[in-house]
Amino acid sequence: MFVTFEGIEGTGKTTQIARAVEHLRENGLEVETTLEPGGSRLGRELRRILLSMESRDLTGRAELFLYLADRAQHVETFIRPALMRGAAVISDRYADSTVVYQGYGRGLDPNLLHRLNDTAVDGLWPDLTILLDIEPETGLKRAFDRNIREGKQNKEGRFEAEAMDFHQRVREGYLTWAALNADRFAVVDASGSPDEVFAQVRDALDRALAIRQS
Ligand code: TYD
Repeated sequence: MFVTFEGIEGTGKTTQIARAVEHLRENGLEVETTLEPGGSRLGRELRRILLSMESRDLTGRAELFLYLADRAQHVETFIRPALMRGAAVISDRYADSTVVYQGYGRGLDPNLLHRLNDTAVDGLWPDLTILLDIEPETGLKRAFDRNIREGKQNKEGRFEAEAMDFHQRVREGYLTWAALNADRFAVVDASGSPDEVFAQVRDALDRALAIRQS
């Protein structure tokens, strides 16, 4: 089973992923977690470039192909082998991030991005994508506080530094894209407490587990 988590900055993805892992393990699954960008050796180099403030001059197309290179390497060297072994894989972001950030956010054509991603991942799309949805004002405040706490505002601050209307477009783009792919998306209201959010995440996981077993 392949599960991805998506959403704007500060939705609490990390916390919810940790709890999702625990839940799937309680259901007897072997679980691998991973992330994008950065889920392979090459990806870790690309992540540094992509998220650094020093990359403010990256063009939109160059950025796009770096994300796709990260993903192609990640799928072939990590995700697909884990799935073939029978493990469940949970990824913090995947192809939908590109469709939404580079497409709805930066103005590239979402349908073209869908096709380019399909090539990059060689047809491997998630069984379930959990979209943690939150108002950008709330999410960014959470992300900003976290970056200060972790002392990484300069290293990984490029996206948090985008204007509010970019984050608004990304949030709305996610909701549009989720509605267009309702067969695999579960939209979760991420504004509540971690327990409230996880109750919705758990329901989505349980539905996917039931489908898998039927
Ligand atoms: P990350 O530190 O993983 O952010 P978060 O904790 O919010 O997941 O940074 C990933 C950033 O890269 C995030 O702002 C979204 C952006 N991104 C894209 O623009 N396109 C992509 O394809 C991916 C995977 C991420």
